[in-house]
Amino acid sequence: MLVKFFKFLFNLSPAIKRALWRKWYQVMAKKYQLPDWNFMNYGYAELDGSELDLHDHQEKERYFIQLYHYVAAAVDLDGKKVLEIGSGRGGGASYVARVLYPEEMVGLDYSANAVDFSNKNNAGDNLSFVEGDAENILFENESYDVVLNVESSHCYGDMQQFVHEVYRILKPGGYFSWADLRGAEEGLELPGIFKNAGFETKQEGTITPQVLHALDLIHDRKMDMIEENVPVFIQSAFKDFAGVKDSKIYNALKDGSAVYLRYVLQKPV
Ligand SMILES: C[S@@+](CC[C@H](N)C(=O)[O-])C[C@H]1O[C@@H](n2cnc3c(N)ncnc32)[C@H](O)[C@@H]1O
Repeated sequence: MLVKFFKFLFNLSPAIKRALWRKWYQVMAKKYQLPDWNFMNYGYAELDGSELDLHDHQEKERYFIQLYHYVAAAVDLDGKKVLEIGSGRGGGASYVARVLYPEEMVGLDYSANAVDFSNKNNAGDNLSFVEGDAENILFENESYDVVLNVESSHCYGDMQQFVHEVYRILKPGGYFSWADLRGAEEGLELPGIFKNAGFETKQEGTITPQVLHALDLIHDRKMDMIEENVPVFIQSAFKDFAGVKDSKIYNALKDGSAVYLRYVLQKPV
């Protein structure tokens, strides 16, 4: 059943997949303007209980921030020109821009509503947000030092096209730090996709246990948020989207039919 669900979700035709996800994120960003909701990822929690040092006001977003920190701090961003693709509501880019000292950072997302929300709530001196498509990136060849991509690429119609685009806009020697979930079989295609584009793999791994641990720790808060803010007739879709315990995605990560992966890749000099 779950294997079937994942085959359905990940093997939709590129055009349908793009259109469905775009609609979903446009509606979400328009309908839910809650200024306290800045992240849309499943989170990351170390299994040994160690945690990032954060301020009190960041505590409620701890696990989402920790996923960003895990992906972004794998590469030195100090003084660099950084692009995040699929920046969502902008909370991750805001954290990275303040804490990891890029000289300039841009968050790109194809939901105009999410970009508006991000520019209102999360832009800063070294950070702005633009509307754009991951599969046809609006920037010049060799214009960025680092590209970040957190839990967004499962929405794209053509992963290979996206990875070619990232390669094109990176400077020689630039880094691409990526994390996302995949159906277990689909995950096996990723090394070939990265290699075809020309990338060298610097780090790779499965972080499913850490993501599941975060999902367990955030479960109660997500359920409260869904029950308070989401009409009853679509609560079940939101529970799947949020990955709460016993949702299809949570169970698939648990039984191995889906995996959460990360790669750090480099464009050769
Ligand atoms: C699950 S959310 C993750 C957002 C953010 N990275 C985070 O962790 O909070 C996925 C994001 O990818 C964006 N997205 C999906 N397809 C895209 C595309 N083709 N180009 C740009 N952004 C895209 C969606 O609009 C959404 O904001």
